[in-house]
Amino acid sequence: MRRKLFALVLSCVLASSLAAGAQTGVVRPGDQWRDNHGRLIQAHGGGITFWKGMYYWFGEDRSRDNDPAKRYVACYSSRDLMHWRFCGKSLALSDPEHLGPGWVLERPKVFVNASTGKFVLYAHLDDAHYSFARVMVAVSNRIQGPYKYVKSYRPLGEESRDIGQFVDDDGSAYLIFESRPTHGFFIARLTGDFMNVEKTCFLPAPLEGGALVHLRGTYYVVGSHMTGWKPNPNVYATAPALTGPWTEFRTLAPAAARNYGSQSTMLLKVAGSKVTTVIFMADQWHPDALWDSRYFWMPLEMGAGNMHLPPPRPWSIDATTGETIFSAAGR
Ligand code: GAL
Repeated sequence: MRRKLFALVLSCVLASSLAAGAQTGVVRPGDQWRDNHGRLIQAHGGGITFWKGMYYWFGEDRSRDNDPAKRYVACYSSRDLMHWRFCGKSLALSDPEHLGPGWVLERPKVFVNASTGKFVLYAHLDDAHYSFARVMVAVSNRIQGPYKYVKSYRPLGEESRDIGQFVDDDGSAYLIFESRPTHGFFIARLTGDFMNVEKTCFLPAPLEGGALVHLRGTYYVVGSHMTGWKPNPNVYATAPALTGPWTEFRTLAPAAARNYGSQSTMLLKVAGSKVTTVIFMADQWHPDALWDSRYFWMPLEMGAGNMHLPPPRPWSIDATTGETIFSAAGR
């Protein structure tokens, strides 16, 4: 009965609030998604940091009115994962390593260091040809920033391009990074001050957009093939420990769907009072209009070592119970 009522209310909200860019409380994968000011959310290649009861969504800010010489990371906060409040540009960075025109800052992720009390932002830093291949680190005393640039480096001495973020149930924090010369990617634990990493595992699979989740004793790692901005069938493998052994990679969705036009960026675990839901967070890139790239978030169907990405349709989550509900109308 309660579920029916919830579905009814959801349909009414959907019907009545699609006008004028209002926040609907419904995730519509691939549609434009707006913040509390009615502006398009700018958090591409993003990640979510949960801190003191609040979700913070960080990502590439590709706003059209940005200073073209700088690169930006925007921050949004939410308690319910559906309504997002803009909390400012966390980073507005001038070319920190003299990388030249077209330099790149991508896939920013923020880690909370409980022992130092600092917030540490990692991102992929590169030149226009993607040959610099490093991570950059910036630090702040406040989660929303502003973040101050500290340094760039090659994790484990390796070339690093796409990065991903993972925080395990015991609080330990990991950087995932793709490393082309090795034909694979690394899962690397952050050192105590989060200023460096140490090797946890190397997976000999040339995948990027790396993301990880730990669910009921199994680790699931997800990645996309290297086709630039173009979508491809994203894949996953599982292991009983981060150090492996990892299974073969399998597709998340039928290969022909090419992941519904999306590329992985993060797996968000919402451990609710009733159920645990894992949200597949991905980007649908619009390379000629990156500011209008879309977000593709869908709850995953998971269990017994399997992970399935269902076709997109509008949905909603109760972030307290973890329960998801799909719009009855389908769209
Ligand atoms: C993708 C990568 C993006 C961006 C893009 C540039 O493969 O995941 O973050 O770097 O290539 O072509």
